[in-house]
Amino acid sequence: MNENRIKPFPHDFLWGGSIAACQSEGAWDEDDKTLTISEVFQSIDGRKEKRRRQAMITKEMLEKARIDKNILNYPKRIGIDFYHTYKDDIKLIAETGMNLFRFSISWARVFPTSNCLVSNEKALAYYDDVIEQCLNHHMEPLVTISHFDLPVYIIDEFGGWDNRKVIDLYLSFCEVLFERYKGKVKYWIPFNEINMSVKAAQKTLGILYEESDNYKQRIFQALHHQFVASAQAVKLAHRIDQDNQVGAMIGSFVVYPLTPKPVDVFATMNEELLRNYYCLDVLCSGSYPYYMLSYFENNHITLNINEEDMTCIKENSCDFVGTSYYSSSVFAENNDHLELTSANVSLVIQNPYLESSEWGWQVDPLGMRYLLNKLFDRYHKPLFILENGLGYKDQLDRDEKIHDEYRIEYLKKHITEVRNAISDGIDVRCYALWTPIDIISSGTSEMNKRYGLIYVDQNNAGEGSKKRYKKDSFYWYQELIKTNGGCL
Ligand code: BG6
Repeated sequence: MNENRIKPFPHDFLWGGSIAACQSEGAWDEDDKTLTISEVFQSIDGRKEKRRRQAMITKEMLEKARIDKNILNYPKRIGIDFYHTYKDDIKLIAETGMNLFRFSISWARVFPTSNCLVSNEKALAYYDDVIEQCLNHHMEPLVTISHFDLPVYIIDEFGGWDNRKVIDLYLSFCEVLFERYKGKVKYWIPFNEINMSVKAAQKTLGILYEESDNYKQRIFQALHHQFVASAQAVKLAHRIDQDNQVGAMIGSFVVYPLTPKPVDVFATMNEELLRNYYCLDVLCSGSYPYYMLSYFENNHITLNINEEDMTCIKENSCDFVGTSYYSSSVFAENNDHLELTSANVSLVIQNPYLESSEWGWQVDPLGMRYLLNKLFDRYHKPLFILENGLGYKDQLDRDEKIHDEYRIEYLKKHITEVRNAISDGIDVRCYALWTPIDIISSGTSEMNKRYGLIYVDQNNAGEGSKKRYKKDSFYWYQELIKTNGGCL
């Protein structure tokens, strides 16, 4: 690799920003919408509790949340009220010059019950307008069909994604979206960070936590159903509009061995296969890789997979690979007595060479280039970076400004590595930061963990003027886009 030969970003590069319905919309029970799993998570102070794993939702916790009258306990029920403020918010976001806006559509809003013959016209009218606003402001909409907000009725009536019937319900939802937004939305992601289910099965698969021998079995069966659903969604999207582009997305898990000891290197390789590559390997090749077959055998997991499933997956591979990237971590064969820190949905070993955010997430810009090289080498598909950003407790100054030079620094270093990856010869088509506007944190349900270019005056308890303020990073990103990355 030649370090000096810098290639510019392609002229049609997609510069964007991403948000998710369950972290922004609020209006959790408006216009007939029903409860989603994201609205069951209570807020925790992720800086203090950074050593604690995410809450594992049990049946009891779900029951309690269902009858709890204090919605302030569940910040995702309030979001940033995007359901009502979307017009102004989208206009403001578009002022950055972004040409792509990624958001998700709430399944429980479009189908408030499991009766998939009756879609909710009020909800669809809202999404019609969100898409219209994006197009009016010259932003390509990229829709995540399911982003960590499984309708609770899927758990109540079907027990979660390990029930095969859920595939059909999900496809009915997809069909409504593909038909309705034909010619308007071209880019789709069936499942946000599909691989996160290995560690966060409640959020993504609706499998409530229980001490049971078949818990793992249920997770991998449910994931198999999501693979089939993804492939069917690709097929459906292409049938309805051949211009549709459907991506498979992972939450990247960049992991280095703690030492050059062969046992650490080998353990790291296995961890990386399971956490980072397994889902994409199945989705891109249409078969289960050898290491998963052996993992299933060693863990007494027997999946119910039929031949048509695998044919469908093989014949309907994704058009592009999407990934999020926030931080990297370290792995060792044995992590007893080692300092641990938080990463996205798990605890990891601290890397002595990296600094961490206040939430413990380790900052590693070069990890971005490393990841992009590995993904492209493995899948040879166009890459879309769909999330990258820094969670920080920003403060509004007395002059009503937010001087977030730390965020600019983070973004600048990471985007420079994207450019370096392009110079390495990698086909990166899109960089969408997380997030154009402050929203509720997914992992901790805090408002304090802000990623936005736009500050929302609202605290953890949902109080504040809700006024929006452009941070310094807003103007920086605007200049970056104007110069197509030339000002890096
Ligand atoms: C990604 C999710 O895994 O991480 C987002 O797709 C989430 O929904 C983001 O917000 C950052 O995580 P957190 O917990 O800091 O909000």
